[in-house]
Amino acid sequence: MSNAPGYFVSFEGGDGVGKSTHVRLLGQWLGEVTGREVVLTREPGGTPLGAKLRQAVLHGDDMDPRTEALLYAADRAHHVATVVRPALERGAVVVTDRYLDSSVAYQAGGRELSEDEVERLSLWATGHLLPDVTVLLDLDPVVGATRLSGAPDRLERAGEAFHRRTREAFLRRAAADPRRWVVVDASAPREDVQAQLRVDVAARLDLTPVVDEAAGLPEGGR
Ligand code: TYD
Repeated sequence: MSNAPGYFVSFEGGDGVGKSTHVRLLGQWLGEVTGREVVLTREPGGTPLGAKLRQAVLHGDDMDPRTEALLYAADRAHHVATVVRPALERGAVVVTDRYLDSSVAYQAGGRELSEDEVERLSLWATGHLLPDVTVLLDLDPVVGATRLSGAPDRLERAGEAFHRRTREAFLRRAAADPRRWVVVDASAPREDVQAQLRVDVAARLDLTPVVDEAAGLPEGGR
């Protein structure tokens, strides 16, 4: 595991796939089975500075692809430096709603930058921090769009072809690195999706939950 002593889990997928619900449920469960502190967070906007960047990138003026990529990378750099790394160093479980793969899928897969340059930008921004496991909640973007509520943000308005390209980019990345990625069909009922991802994440993290009989508390295996 690259991020010892903590565990770093990211969730990825299109808009409307149910990431925030599954982040919360998985985080709660990981806390129970490992007995560790759990930090639930998100990108963009997981920090006070990130909230301002989120506002600019999602609800601000139109911008060129490089500006957009740099704003997401700036949010990520600050998020990793001030929230994610300190938590991993404390031994916490960090579960983030989106990370670097969103940039590759949206800023390269969706727009016209190359995947390689967007990935290198994010790796530079984060000092090469990669998740131990990345969950892809995979869903047809047409179905995802029907699950969204409220006024669409700048990215949600980008159109069906754009969202198809981002889905394909996520699936390609997952297929290229099956040791890091867990792919779950997000069209299944919520309980089934959560049950499957618990099994897959525990296997990837090599969690061997044991029950501490004295305290009656489950402990994780790392
Ligand atoms: P998200 O927070 O998942 O949306 P919401 O809370 O509105 O459901 O993500 C916001 C949008 O930002 C989403 O459309 C994906 C996009 N995004 C990128 O384009 N690049 C990135 O690096 C990240 C993290 C998100």
